[in-house]
Amino acid sequence: MRIIQITDTHLSPSKPHFNANWSPLAQWVADQKPDLVIHTGDLSVDGADIEDDLAFSANLLNQLSVQVLCLPGNHDIGHMPGSAQPVNATRIDRWREMVGPDRWTYDTDKWRLIGLNSLILGNDSLEEEEQFDWLEDALGEAETRQIAIFAHKPLFVDAADEGETGYWSVRPTPRKRLLDLFEEYEVALHASGHLHRGWQGTHNNTGLVWAPASSFTVGDMERDMPGERILGAAIHTLTDRVKSEIVEIDALSRFVLDDVIEEVYPRAPKAQPAEITA
Ligand SMILES: [Fe+2]
Repeated sequence: MRIIQITDTHLSPSKPHFNANWSPLAQWVADQKPDLVIHTGDLSVDGADIEDDLAFSANLLNQLSVQVLCLPGNHDIGHMPGSAQPVNATRIDRWREMVGPDRWTYDTDKWRLIGLNSLILGNDSLEEEEQFDWLEDALGEAETRQIAIFAHKPLFVDAADEGETGYWSVRPTPRKRLLDLFEEYEVALHASGHLHRGWQGTHNNTGLVWAPASSFTVGDMERDMPGERILGAAIHTLTDRVKSEIVEIDALSRFVLDDVIEEVYPRAPKAQPAEITA
């Protein structure tokens, strides 16, 4: 089974800055003839507040002539408590209504794919605990299938034992809970987006993949991090094991967020990395 993971398309009818990369991405996906497409979030520029952004983006996604599973990103349903757009029931419900479930499982003969809502991790909500319960059941019921997990946010940026990274990765407490579960259930892959960089690594026996965005990279406005500042996608080939490949797509225009941040995300103060937005 070949899965194409696309991520961070940041589409919008009113802020069309990155829309030009949708057609070449869709064409590239069609040429690849995958069995499944998984979008790991930030489908829209501002679905967290603007319904039209979600409707417009979901409509484009549905035009792909391949089965698509999608997960929300911080710009689709909001993010950390105390931020300008905290994730909440209204935003999650809007996603569920307009795009689809915010977490899911998908089974083949040999594999169980699990999609997680990573925006609620660490916000100490009932929703977060419900998802952990659901995840444990999903892992426990995989039976003989191998397990691959997809989510918007990476588990960590620089190291599995790092502290709070603010905006960029899962908080330490839920990160440890996830890593313990991944070890217990021998999870083969955790694939994410969010960082707008391509990177691969491992933790214990779990492969870690950051798929590059198709919309834009982030330039010097943000601190340097691991991974390559490229635009593209990831291809995951599942047989008895998983082989993941990060692909740079030359047909994509190399937009850089720094050039348009004031127009696209004007609430993000330049001087505060925690509020910088990708
Ligand atoms: Fe993003």
